[in-house]
Amino acid sequence: MDLITVDHSLCIRCGRCAAVCPRGLIHLEEQWPKSQVEELCIACGQCVAVCPVAALDNRLAPLAGQTAAPKQTFTAEAAYQFLRSRRSIRCFKQTPVERSKLLQLLDLARLAPSGGNSQGIGYQVIENRAVLEQITAETVAWMEQQVEQGVAAAKVYAQYAAMYRKTGRDSILRSAPCLVLATADASFVRARENSHFTLAYAELYAPALGLGSCWAGLLESAAYGGHAPLLKLLDIPAGRQLSGAIMVGYPEFKFPRWPDRKPLDVRFVED
Ligand SMILES: Cc1cc2nc3c(=O)[nH]c(=O)nc-3n(C[C@H](O)[C@H](O)[C@H](O)COP(=O)(O)O)c2cc1C
Repeated sequence: MDLITVDHSLCIRCGRCAAVCPRGLIHLEEQWPKSQVEELCIACGQCVAVCPVAALDNRLAPLAGQTAAPKQTFTAEAAYQFLRSRRSIRCFKQTPVERSKLLQLLDLARLAPSGGNSQGIGYQVIENRAVLEQITAETVAWMEQQVEQGVAAAKVYAQYAAMYRKTGRDSILRSAPCLVLATADASFVRARENSHFTLAYAELYAPALGLGSCWAGLLESAAYGGHAPLLKLLDIPAGRQLSGAIMVGYPEFKFPRWPDRKPLDVRFVED
C-alpha cells in the first residue's frame, strides 16, 4: 500500500506536500504527488498538514489525527510577552497539582520538536513529599562528596549544602510539590536533546495553567554522577535512562519585572 493517498478530485497540484517533506520522499508525476518509500518517512505529518485543500493523507500520519490550525496568530508583541514572562519558579505553594492539570501540561509537552521526529520521551512524576525530601537530602549528600573531592563546582555545592544543613532549606527541589522526570530508552541517543525541548515546552505552557516550573539541574548532576541512593529513589525502570527533570507547582509570587540578559552576540558571515 502506498505511503500517501491523494484525492484527485481535491488536489490542486500545488506541490507543497513534496516541498515540505523533510526527506524528499514525495515526488510529482504530472504535478500529482506520489510516494511509495514508507520506511524512511518520519511521520512528521507536514505533507498532510500543509495541503490547503485536505487532499492528501499519509498512512503514518493520518489526516484524521490532525487538528485544524486557528486562523488567528499571535502578534509579535503577544509572543514576545509570552516568552519573556516565563520565569524559573523557586518558591511554590504547597497546594498539590491536580493530576488532570499535570496531564494537560505533559500532553502539550509531548508535541515539542524532536530529532527526526523520534519523540521517545516518557515522563515519571513524583509527588510523594517524603520521597521528594529524600531526593533533596541525597542530592545534598552527593554535593558534599563532590566538595571533598574538590570538583570545579565545589564552592557552589558547599554553599547549597551548608544552607541545607543549617536551615533545612531545600535549594535542590525548592520544596516543589511535584517533580517531573523525563525518561527514555537506555540506548536512545537523542534522549537528552529531545528532553530539553519537551521540558522547555512544559515550562512555557505551565503559566497558562497557573503553574510554574524550574529545571532541576542540580538533581540531574547528582543522578548523572551516579549517586546510587538517589538513583534508587528516582526509581527509573530497567532499560530506561533519566534524560531531564523539572519541578512543577503553583508559584508563590508574581514577577512584576523581566530580568535582562547578556547583550545579543551575533555575527553575520559575509561572502
Ligand atoms: C539546564 C538547566 C538547568 C538548571 N538547573 C537549575 C537548578 O538546578 N536549580 C535552579 O534553581 N535553577 C536551575 N535552572 C534555572 C536557571 O538558573 C534559570 O533559567 C536562569 O537563571 C534564568 O532565569 P529564568 O529562567 O527565570 O529566566 C536551570 C536551567 C537550565 C536551562
